[in-house]
Parts: sequence; structure tokens; C-alpha cells
Amino acid sequence: MGVLRVKSVEQSIRDTEAPEHRLRKDLSALDLTVFGIGVIVGTGIFVLTGRVAKDMAGPAVALSFVAAGVVCALAALCYAEFASTVPVAGSAYTFAFATLGEFPAWIIGWDLVLEMALGAAVVAVGWSGYLGSLLASLGVPLPAAIAGEDAVFNIPAALVVLLLTAVLVLGVKLSSRVNLIIVTLKVAVILLVIVAGLFFLTPANYTPFIPPARQTPAVEGLAAPLIQVLFGMTPVAFGVLGVFGAAAIVFFAYIGFDVVATAAEETRNPRRDLPIGIIASLAVCTLLYVAVSLVVVGMQPYGQLSRAAPLADAFKAVGQIWAATLISVGALAGLTTVVMILMLGQTRVMFAMSRDNLLPRGLARVHPRFGTPYRITVMTGLVVALLAGLVPLSTIAELVNIGTLFAFVVVSTAVVVLRRTRPDLPRSFRTPLVPLVPALSVLACLYLMLNLPVETWLRFVAWMLIGIVVYIGYGYRHSRLARPLPGGRSRVRPS
Ligand code: ALA
Repeated sequence: MGVLRVKSVEQSIRDTEAPEHRLRKDLSALDLTVFGIGVIVGTGIFVLTGRVAKDMAGPAVALSFVAAGVVCALAALCYAEFASTVPVAGSAYTFAFATLGEFPAWIIGWDLVLEMALGAAVVAVGWSGYLGSLLASLGVPLPAAIAGEDAVFNIPAALVVLLLTAVLVLGVKLSSRVNLIIVTLKVAVILLVIVAGLFFLTPANYTPFIPPARQTPAVEGLAAPLIQVLFGMTPVAFGVLGVFGAAAIVFFAYIGFDVVATAAEETRNPRRDLPIGIIASLAVCTLLYVAVSLVVVGMQPYGQLSRAAPLADAFKAVGQIWAATLISVGALAGLTTVVMILMLGQTRVMFAMSRDNLLPRGLARVHPRFGTPYRITVMTGLVVALLAGLVPLSTIAELVNIGTLFAFVVVSTAVVVLRRTRPDLPRSFRTPLVPLVPALSVLACLYLMLNLPVETWLRFVAWMLIGIVVYIGYGYRHSRLARPLPGGRSRVRPS
């Protein structure tokens, strides 16, 4: 069937060599790891830690981070195998095209917009919030009409997006240098929190480590987690279930390690370096997260943690104002690279999709001097800037989680499929214990998805339906695989 036509791995790799679509290969394993840390460490650790400890997990928020980290590690092992086998821009989109077929690939490409473009907009709004609070503490508050969640148009959020778009157009090496500087600052600030925080720990704050479960007034209607609606469970805060429920929220903190795979075509030795970049960045971030959350809940009783800026405020609470200011600066810098690299990932996925004609092919043109897909980059930048400027995003932030988890489910499934359909392909990294690890990855991601609210599911389904309409209206007919090759051969592999 046409919609399940598969694009062979060999064809995907050949496409990367077409002169008009060749990206510059500049990145090393270290660059990729730093890229990974640049995109992973952000709102999750700087903001969500406090909210989740306070409302759902108590001091055991560290365990929620461990649980979400384990889910991500399972998925990362699957991404690493794929990235080492099909080192082509597009990540999950390309992997799905090589295994499940064109329509699933389109669906996943469409889905990744939720993770990357929407994710970038969400984090840009958070960035503007941090800027506002930093400027306010310096005595120059921004007017509410142009910054913050209730702004008519969030000018700082839109501006930072446009500025980063310019950096992305100018070159991936430049982007990676900017990233390196900012990541150094961000990691230094996180280490400062860990080390300086150790001097202000109050052991009593750790007991009880897992506060006893409490029934929360059942979240009504569309805000209820799907799992509750399906199985009639009442949501509990705290207790072991609360700790696991919180994992679905702090999952946001790990989003980004998969974005490393989108830089495949810009990597000098992708078969070796992509698995290193994906797994190393995830491992470093997991360690930092667990350490930071343990320290922060030791500094303040969890009920007193702040929701907006828990790390900075924990230091204020112990009288260390200098550290609080430094942390705010670090957070601001940190969120900048998250926005930049999420957009980078988005452009590379759309690049791969337009190269396959599922989106207009002209979009995939690479800039002759900068070696970047400049048309897509500018377009993405404008859309993200508008979204960040106009939409109150905190209500739809969970869409980013569901979009990402869905991509993880598809990639984990696809690893098993590709092992069956193409056992012959060279795989420089192999997911251990196939099919056990991919199966656990799918189940764990589905569990986290079920913990998201019904309204998130409805929005997700609506977005996917729009995607199907676009595919039928454009991609299906224009796809390169729909047209036979010269000489009457077809690109479609018989199934
Ligand atoms: N992981 C990224 C963050 O926490 C998206 O901001």
C-alpha cells in the first residue's frame, strides 16, 4: 500500500550526499554531548523541581527524577542503535520511514513539531519570565503588557527566538560554540547549587522521605489524568504513586537527548559519535538532576519550596542572596540553549521531510555559504516567535511531553522492526537485550502518557488529525517515493 512505502536505509544515506542538500559536517562526540546537555538542562530542573516536590513527591522528587531517567535511558538505548545505523537528519522521522513506512513517518514528523517547535516556544516564555524576575530584582521591572504569561504580546520571548534563529542560520559550528559557552555557565551554576547547598542542609527536611499518600480532590473533567478516567482511580499526591505520577511531569526535564540524533548529518563520525552523544548527555543530566533535587529539598522543608524559581529561592531562604542572583543568571542562560537547540532539531526534521517532498522541496535548500537549511530555519523561527509571543503556553506545555513520549514509543518499536526486516545492516551500536529493552521502553512511555490529562490527549489527537489531512492533501501526492525512478524502477520496497 502506498502509505506504507518504506524508504530504504541506503536511499536515506544516499540523499545526504546530494550537493544541494549537503549539510556541513562539523560536530564531534564532545560537541554532541555538550549539545545534548545544552538542550536537556532547562525548565525542568530550574522550575519543575520545586513544583513537583511541593505538590506531588516531597523530598522523594529525586526518585521521580530517577524514574523518568530510567524511562529515558531505555528509549535512549533505542535511539542510539538507530542513530548509529541510519545517521541521517530527521531522527525519529527518518527511523520510522526506514521501518514502518511513509505515513507513520509523516505522523511522527508532524508529532515532533509538538516536542521541538512547541517545546521551544514554551521554554522561551519561561525564559522571558526569568528575565522579568531578574530585571525586577535589579530594580527595572518589565511592564506586564509586554512580558510574562498575561502579556498581550510577550516581546522578550519573541525576541530571544528571533535572535537565536539568526545564530542558527549562520552555522551549526557557531551554534555549537555559543552553546558550549552557555553550557559551561549553566553546568557551573548547577554545580554551585550542589556544592554550596551542601552547607545549608537540614537533615530533618528529609523525613519522611516519601510523605504519606494523600487523596487529592479528584481532578475533575478534562484536567484529570487519562489513567484515572480509564480505570476510575483517584489521583493521589505523595506516597509511592505520587512519586511515579510526578515522573510524568519531570519527564520534561529530560526532553532533548533525542534531539542529538537530528544532528546526524552534521557529525563527522556519526556511527560512533551519535550513540556517545545521546547516552553521555542523558547520563550527565540524570546525575545532575538527582543531586540538585536532593540538595534543594534538604535546604527547605518541601512545603515551603517556591514554584517559580525553587533553586534561587532556596538560597534566598537561607540568606544567600548572591547565590540566588547567580542562579537566576545561570537559569536564563541555560534556557537560551534549550530554545536554540530545540529549534535546531525542528529545522533538521523538517529538512528531512521536505527533502522527501512531504513538504515543499524548496524548503530544504541549504545556504551556499553557511551550510544550513536557512529557509526552514527562518520559517521555524517566525512561527516559534509568534507562538511564544501570542499564546499563553503554560496550559498546553504537557503537549510537549505527550508528543515526545509518542516519538519514543515509535522509535522503540521501530528498533525491533528493523532488526527483523534488515538484520544485515551494520549497527555500530546495538540496543542490549532486544526485544526486552524496547518493549520495556514502550510500556514505560505509555504509562507516563496515561498519567497526562485527558485534555492533553484531546489536543494531541486533534493535532494528529490535522497532520493526516495535510498528508492526504499534500505529502501523499508529492512524495518522492510516489514517483518511479528513471528506467521504470520503483523506490518502493515490496512488502
Ligand atoms: N529538557 C528541557 C527543559 O527542561 C526541555 O527545559
